[in-house]
Amino acid sequence: MRIPEVEIAIFGEADEQKATLSFSTHRKNQFRYLQTSNVEAIEFFYLRLWENFQRSCQTTISSRSDVWRWLIDFEDPEISVPEKAVESLSQLWKALPFNWDSIANLYKDQVRGSNLEFFKSYFKGETEKVLEKIEMAASDGEFVVMDFGCGTGSTIKAIAEFAYSPENTQQAITRNLRHILGVDDAALMIAESYRVREGLGSKGREVSLWKLDIQELAEYIENGRISSFPAGQDSRSVGIDRAIFENCRKFGCLMNVLPNIPRIFRLPFLRRIASTLSSGDQILVSTYNGLRFGDFQRKVYGSIPNLTGAYENRLDLPASLRTYVNPERDFVSHWFTLHELELLVESAGFKKVDSGYFPEDSSNRDDLQGVGVFVLARKSTGDESPHPNPPSA
Ligand SMILES: C[S@@+](CC[C@H](N)C(=O)[O-])C[C@H]1O[C@@H](n2cnc3c(N)ncnc32)[C@H](O)[C@@H]1O
Repeated sequence: MRIPEVEIAIFGEADEQKATLSFSTHRKNQFRYLQTSNVEAIEFFYLRLWENFQRSCQTTISSRSDVWRWLIDFEDPEISVPEKAVESLSQLWKALPFNWDSIANLYKDQVRGSNLEFFKSYFKGETEKVLEKIEMAASDGEFVVMDFGCGTGSTIKAIAEFAYSPENTQQAITRNLRHILGVDDAALMIAESYRVREGLGSKGREVSLWKLDIQELAEYIENGRISSFPAGQDSRSVGIDRAIFENCRKFGCLMNVLPNIPRIFRLPFLRRIASTLSSGDQILVSTYNGLRFGDFQRKVYGSIPNLTGAYENRLDLPASLRTYVNPERDFVSHWFTLHELELLVESAGFKKVDSGYFPEDSSNRDDLQGVGVFVLARKSTGDESPHPNPPSA
């Protein structure tokens, strides 16, 4: 059977910007997704896509399944899509069945609480890196941590326990950490973070949590200032002292959130985060190490079928794409190389301060060293130009 050529053309109303996405026509497993996928989801997705663009743009799509696959990063097309279209598409992405809403317990027990050495090493190394980098930033004066995509609250817990422990009173973090704001839009994830906060007792006093899409955060916080509090979360429930927040530098954490965001949305997503921070504020970004994808993907995804779909039902992508896709759960996870992560972060308006691999301590098994990558960066001042060659986002 001939596989149809697919072209998506998006014509912006105002400026006639055009984006053309072409898909390869020779992949053997081109139709596998259709056979194994949730057809209702595709249908819904396609209709919403169609409705949205009917209103504002003109769209031509020859195959609905290819749209889905384009969004999940299946191919690597040259993409240049108008920002308006990216925004509509990101709403559509959220309408797909995979979301974090219902899986907080699975994530907490089977990923964060996993016995798999890979996860244990990754999270131990990540926590050490977060504390090390925050302690360094803390020597510059008072600051607030913003944990973007805080999930089940593990990073918040580690920071609060460290900062507010009696044995750490000599540390800069204890003197200068004024508040931690966690943001996550998944109801059960943020509910778990609330439980973590309760469990912290007095150490959780300076933790507040917003249930909010990070993409909407810029409507409430811009350049480190709070323009208004999100609806349903007034100043009492958010618990932030506005003056303290605005007078402090921010330290952003983006721990393992980027892998599950489709390629096309990553750059706009990071730019939104950048716009909430002030020039000079730092952000620490982490993901699994793309160079270790081939070594570990089977063990990792084979161990959490309830979360990511049975390993056998994955879409078999070449390991060089470093992306795990499972249509069974509409799950996608991309593992970044260090260079790829640096390029992305710098393209979003940050300047790299440091980057590297974790864990790096010798008590770990050799093969588990460097299973994570991190980039520490600060928001550029206006006079620093972003990276000249942004990766296709
Ligand atoms: C892989 S989990 C990581 C959670 C946590 N940072 C950790 O290290 O355990 C990704 C988290 O990002 C959140 N997330 C993804 N996209 C988001 C968005 N647009 N707005 C808010 N939260 C988002 C999800 O709800 C989920 O809790």
